[in-house]
Amino acid sequence: MSHQNLQDSLFLRAAFSKSTERPPVWMMRQAGRFMPEYWEIKNKYSFLEMCKTPEIAADVTMLPVDLLDIDAAILFSDILVTAEAMGGDLSFTQGIGPRFANPVRNQSDIDNLLTDVDDKLQYVADAIKVIQQRLNGKIPLIGFAGAPFTVMSYLVEGGSSKDFKLTKLMLHNQPEMAHQLLSKIAKVTTDYLNLQIEAGVNAIQIFDSWAMALSWDDYTEFSHRYIQEIISNLNRKDVPVISFCKGSSVFAPLMAQTKPDVISVDWNADLLNIKKSLPQGIAVQGNLDPHILYADKSVIKNRIHKLFERMRGEDGFIFNLGHGIMPDIPFDNVKYAVNVIKEFRY
Ligand code: CP3
Repeated sequence: MSHQNLQDSLFLRAAFSKSTERPPVWMMRQAGRFMPEYWEIKNKYSFLEMCKTPEIAADVTMLPVDLLDIDAAILFSDILVTAEAMGGDLSFTQGIGPRFANPVRNQSDIDNLLTDVDDKLQYVADAIKVIQQRLNGKIPLIGFAGAPFTVMSYLVEGGSSKDFKLTKLMLHNQPEMAHQLLSKIAKVTTDYLNLQIEAGVNAIQIFDSWAMALSWDDYTEFSHRYIQEIISNLNRKDVPVISFCKGSSVFAPLMAQTKPDVISVDWNADLLNIKKSLPQGIAVQGNLDPHILYADKSVIKNRIHKLFERMRGEDGFIFNLGHGIMPDIPFDNVKYAVNVIKEFRY
């Protein structure tokens, strides 16, 4: 399929709110630890080596394309590579997750962060080119970045957090400093997403995974406005923008103001109600509870069919989970879910 024909793919048609004979399917974290084939690669390299070596990033990106036959591929990388390029001393440890050895806690830490880092992220552009050669027009490739608030939380906490205590303390006690940090991340993220578009991705997704930690007012001031800034500065051409956050059940009306093509919805809300509340022309993506994929196959099938029946007659619907696949979900169940979706016809 040529680039021209990719615009007729199920995924891009749904992203642009055109009708499809069934909802397209991809899943957040579709290239990851629930796959035995992922471990064969992961046992040989560190996670960052995998991200930074275009051939390996392409191999991992292709795993769910070849083994699950999904309708869109997502670049194998991480939302924290922008923060690393800005000067974060990033490592990933099995069982602990990401860690920044030099967390950002005061003004001089913020002043030290770099904002012209396209050169340092060139490996991502290189990976995109290798992946597009491998995909050869079969399905679209989704690029991505973290939203400034979510990336900030890792920089400030120095890693993952349950309560985002230090991050929220900075928002509340030193809002001007927080805004400086968020502005720097937003600038880097805008350049980074434009670099991905230039390199050839067919869609982009912005992940604001931890937005649900924020009140409505704090989300508006510290997250929403930076996502707005990023989206309005993208060279979008024919590349749809998907805005994801945990908390989208609540924040969807604000997310819509940033004019994404698609809003990716967590599993708390009724998807049809969210869709009907949005302006015409904004598609939805979601929103099966990923825990359903642990359940019996009959349950998996029923819940997918229930979601699809609820969305019957709606253009602009991409199937996904409300958040990423957990590492211990049985591969066979994921494969089964994809098959159920691919066999479905409206
Ligand atoms: O979706 C995909 O398959 C594409 C690749 C991808 C990864 N991370 C690979 C990854 C994507 C899109 C991400 C995004 C990401 N990274 C997010 C937003 C999405 C979300 O789930 O909310 C976040 C918050 C991160 C930060 C991050 N990276 C964490 C918290 C961790 C540790 C996770 C854990 O459970 O240990 C990572 C590491 C990571 N990113 C892995 C993968 C496959 C695991 C690395 C390993 O093999 O050890």
